[in-house]
Amino acid sequence: MPRAVIVGSGSDIPPTRVTNAMLSRIMDTSDEWIRERSGVEARHYVERGVGTSDLGVAAARRALERAGLEPRDVDMVVFATMTPDHYFPGSGALLQAKLGLRDVPCFDIRQQCVGFLYGLQLADAQVRAGMARTVLLVGAEIHTGFMPWTAANWEYMLGRADVPPTPEEFAWNTRFRHLTVLFGDAASAVVIKADEGSRGVVDSLLHTSGADYDKLYVPGTGFKHRPYTDPEQFKRGDHIPVMDGRYVFKMATTNMVAAAQEVLARNEVTMDAVSLVLMHQANKRINEYCQKSLGIPDAKVLHNIERYGNTTAATIPLLWDEAARSGRLSPGDLVLLVAFGGGMHWGATLVRA
Ligand code: ACO
Repeated sequence: MPRAVIVGSGSDIPPTRVTNAMLSRIMDTSDEWIRERSGVEARHYVERGVGTSDLGVAAARRALERAGLEPRDVDMVVFATMTPDHYFPGSGALLQAKLGLRDVPCFDIRQQCVGFLYGLQLADAQVRAGMARTVLLVGAEIHTGFMPWTAANWEYMLGRADVPPTPEEFAWNTRFRHLTVLFGDAASAVVIKADEGSRGVVDSLLHTSGADYDKLYVPGTGFKHRPYTDPEQFKRGDHIPVMDGRYVFKMATTNMVAAAQEVLARNEVTMDAVSLVLMHQANKRINEYCQKSLGIPDAKVLHNIERYGNTTAATIPLLWDEAARSGRLSPGDLVLLVAFGGGMHWGATLVRA
């Protein structure tokens, strides 16, 4: 039976880099607090008008190039994002058109920070079933649309204007600080090819617990409302995610450790056999806890939260791409991917690179 082998990867990071100190110009926060509590030092934001599909296309082009393939070779797309260009259609269709792919099927999936793991399982299943031989799997996010500050505040934060926020604006921005400081924009893509050898996805373990959906979700702008979006929702800030940070922290540590242990155990491998562990980057402290609990040496862990913040569905492929670029991945290496995110969804995947 063929397996899904990652044969190329590519990423796109928007050029505008925003430090913690820049954020502290428009809300009550500090570099010290953000670094200590989360590990984030900077993040990148797109300029107005750039969509998730645009970042995804740039990442996909690089991934195809590195795989030595052309757009016409792709016979399926899986696009993971929680921040699509439009409510519908999903960004997969937009990417297909912008990349000039054939009219191949495009799946849009929305498992937040676990989107890449869900997408990889889906791609692997399609490959194993013989439904596709070359799949483009993209994880991309533009979180800037969630940022609550005004256009004038944006300009001031970026040092492009001299008008500081009013006290009311400063207080409004501060209300969401526990969430906004964590996220950044990015895209990353991998090209998957069917391969009859011993490389590829070894096993995917995925879980969901919808009972806790409201610990991390967007209360407004949904079709439970009539109309689905209106000025009152915006006034209340219901278009911005609600997050019970402490609860999510606890869920993430418990479930990431359990999922990693479960996938290793059911494949009868120990951490010694794993060359690299790529964990979702929501909070450095979450990952330090998981690393310690699982007994993973520093040399086997990659992190990039300090440079990019939490990039949701883009995080794991971004780490993969960085590992590939820096010579940390060799064909045949066993790689463990672990993630947790809103839904609640979590999972662990073993891949032979
Ligand atoms: N700057 C300064 N102070 C802040 C900030 C900030 N940005 N944010 C919160 N604070 C304050 C709080 O108001 C609070 O003040 P108080 O004690 O006077 O009330 C204090 O800091 C402590 O707040 P906590 O929320 O208890 O801080 P904690 O140490 O838990 O860190 C954090 C908060 C970073 C959000 C943490 O809980 C966390 O990372 N949780 C998990 C997040 C996560 O994994 N999210 C997944 C998202 S991915 C996805 O699926 C989309």
